[in-house]
Amino acid sequence: MIFSHHFLSVRHQSQGNLEQILERARGFEKQARAGSDHPINSILATLFYEPSTRTRLSFETAMHRLGGRVIGFADARTSSVAKGESLADTFRMLSHYADIAVMRHPREGSARAAAAYATIPVINGGDGGHEHPTQTMLDLYTIQSERGHIAGLNVILCGDLLYGRTAHSLAWALLLMGANIICVSPHGLEMPSHVMHLLHERFGKFPAVEYDLTAAIADADVLYVTRIQKERFLSDEEYFAAKGSYTIDTELMSHARSNLVLMHPLPRVDEITVEVDQDPRAAYFRQAFYGIPVRMALLDMLLKGEIKLPTEVGYVIREERCPNEMCVSRSELYLPPEFEPLAEKPDTYRCIYCDHEVEEKREEWEVVEEKA
Ligand code: CP
Repeated sequence: MIFSHHFLSVRHQSQGNLEQILERARGFEKQARAGSDHPINSILATLFYEPSTRTRLSFETAMHRLGGRVIGFADARTSSVAKGESLADTFRMLSHYADIAVMRHPREGSARAAAAYATIPVINGGDGGHEHPTQTMLDLYTIQSERGHIAGLNVILCGDLLYGRTAHSLAWALLLMGANIICVSPHGLEMPSHVMHLLHERFGKFPAVEYDLTAAIADADVLYVTRIQKERFLSDEEYFAAKGSYTIDTELMSHARSNLVLMHPLPRVDEITVEVDQDPRAAYFRQAFYGIPVRMALLDMLLKGEIKLPTEVGYVIREERCPNEMCVSRSELYLPPEFEPLAEKPDTYRCIYCDHEVEEKREEWEVVEEKA
């Protein structure tokens, strides 16, 4: 598999890479506000198998601002997916139509799977409950724009951290950039254990966990709120039990610092009351705008080959597929069920698509490839 020039996960990026993207975005901010005469003569394909307002439209605007052109679909039912076309065939073919692609898909690991069959850069615009790395780039940019720096800040990640893909990507990037994170969620919607393990493995510590938002907010520099991800719940019962379990209102904001930055990837449902929009600390609409210069920077750098993925480590193919029902390897059955052996946890393997872990005796597995 070739994973050289895609943007699939923040975990593939060094701190230096993140800083370079943010700096490039800073250079594009004026152009993002004023329009473009910078033709890059490229075509962006937007393949959205799941609903989106900001990600799709801001990528399209970013490409137009750069002087490029856009093709794509916003509803997979109007594409040949409705006739049963695989991700692999779609991306093989698409590589002849466009120079770069952004996709959103309900399956975890779908962007990685698509990238394996594409010869053009693939950008992950959200893969199920897994990751949303370009949202993370604009989240970092927002914090940098509002506070001037990221290192040393106390950032609360609040809400549905179980299914909230923006929080999974952002947690990694914030730790990489030197911020402190505090996870605040309703019981049962905590950060998934496989995400916590990834953070511990890379940064040597687990993020702090807190359930009382009123107590936590007093020391926060940034409050990052996410909605309950209704579309990922297995039953309506579970969703309605969680709905309304946290609300950011003017009373809660009275406990926060005067320079708090209140963020939300949007869409908001009812977790931030509309009265809070008048509070100058509410940064979520400014945050949505920052998607333009950041996505301009990503398109520009990926088209120029300035962002490269790290070399892959060895992996193994397991007989049984990933236990995560939402993993792309459970629906695109031609994908080999590949897993990465974990050095620190004997007999534990991580699915290369969705990061879920599986425990199994190592000798039962066949090592099929080792890459330098
Ligand atoms: N923040 C975000 O991903 O918004 P959309 O779902 O509207 O793209």
